[in-house]
Amino acid sequence: MSQTKVNDELQIQAVSHSLVRSAIAGIGVSLPSKVVTNRELEKLVDTSDEWIETRTGIRERRIAEPNMTTSDLCFEAATKSLADAKLTPQDLDLIIVCTVTPDTPVPATACILQDRLGAKQAAAFDLNGGCTGFMYGLATASQFVSTGKFKNVLVIGADLLSRITNWQDRGTCILFGDGAGAVIVSPSKDQAYGLLDFHLRADGSGAPLLKVEAGGAKLPASVITAEKRQHFLQMEGRQVFKFAVHAILDGVNTLLKRNELTVDDIDCFVFHQANLRILENAAKQLKIPSEKIISNVQKYGNTSSASVPIALEEARREKKFKKGSYVILVGFGAGLTWASALLRW
Ligand SMILES: CC(C)(COP(=O)(O)OP(=O)(O)OC[C@H]1O[C@@H](n2cnc3c(N)ncnc32)[C@H](O)[C@@H]1OP(=O)(O)O)[C@@H](O)C(=O)NCCC(=O)NCCS
Repeated sequence: MSQTKVNDELQIQAVSHSLVRSAIAGIGVSLPSKVVTNRELEKLVDTSDEWIETRTGIRERRIAEPNMTTSDLCFEAATKSLADAKLTPQDLDLIIVCTVTPDTPVPATACILQDRLGAKQAAAFDLNGGCTGFMYGLATASQFVSTGKFKNVLVIGADLLSRITNWQDRGTCILFGDGAGAVIVSPSKDQAYGLLDFHLRADGSGAPLLKVEAGGAKLPASVITAEKRQHFLQMEGRQVFKFAVHAILDGVNTLLKRNELTVDDIDCFVFHQANLRILENAAKQLKIPSEKIISNVQKYGNTSSASVPIALEEARREKKFKKGSYVILVGFGAGLTWASALLRW
């Protein structure tokens, strides 16, 4: 090895020794109370309860009332996660709201939330990673905590996809629901526990597969874009399905290989809840027993960035993992983007 390489290696070792292990210190969830069943969707589009359940596993979803905003759901989820971590808003150094449905394009929903929480010391920004947003946010928070720059970071995955859903399109409107899930990322009390590894990827060549065409700089809102319904989500379902399975396989296999673990070592897999068939397909290929896979898509549909923290909270409540358990989280979505995390609870 050359002297430069040796020096680089020593520097990397020195940096990694000075890093603090980050961990999830609290979780909180917020779901609208209004339940919309598949039968109710039969009245809107040409579909059936049987078709939706067979192809997606979804039976019902939560839909926000018209007066509810993304920041409302964020506030409830954030407050619960702070209580869970035994912290107050004043303890927060940074707030990251991961969303594709902010209250308004400007300012960031994270700033609206920061004010409402009274988190006077916190910086705040939004992050658009599609349905992968929460995973990107978790990785970002972890870096800030690991370097010692920040102590407590609030990460929220929150979306009201119902607001950008084309309720005339049976190919998409049956899939989505509203919700928010928040976590607090703080230094781990023990270096052996916490957020151990991340794998983050993007493939922008797949951007056309899942998109909202109008409302940005390329195609600003106009009467024409509204008439053409270009402010709603459009999706190539079949291709996104294939991508989703690939994303889970890549997310899981990369972390297992890099950390010299096998599927047997992992107690719980929390994947983005998009479609039960995607979960089953990936689980089959990875040879993961069904009891290790969390699935609540039946109750909530695809809640975008909120789905991983909502499922994680449910898994914790149902004791699907305990202290010392290895857990793998995977998100995937528009961009295309995907990301996974390995944690030891
Ligand atoms: C959307 C999805 C459920 C569609 O299932 P699919 O088996 O791929 O179905 P297809 O789109 O090929 O359509 C098959 C037929 O069902 C019809 N169909 C589509 N949606 C329907 C609905 N809600 N009810 C009844 N029929 C429907 C189609 O029109 C098509 O009819 P045709 O054969 O007469 O043309 C599936 O592709 C999927 O889940 N994709 C991934 C979506 C996703 O996870 N997105 C978010 C990622 S973050």
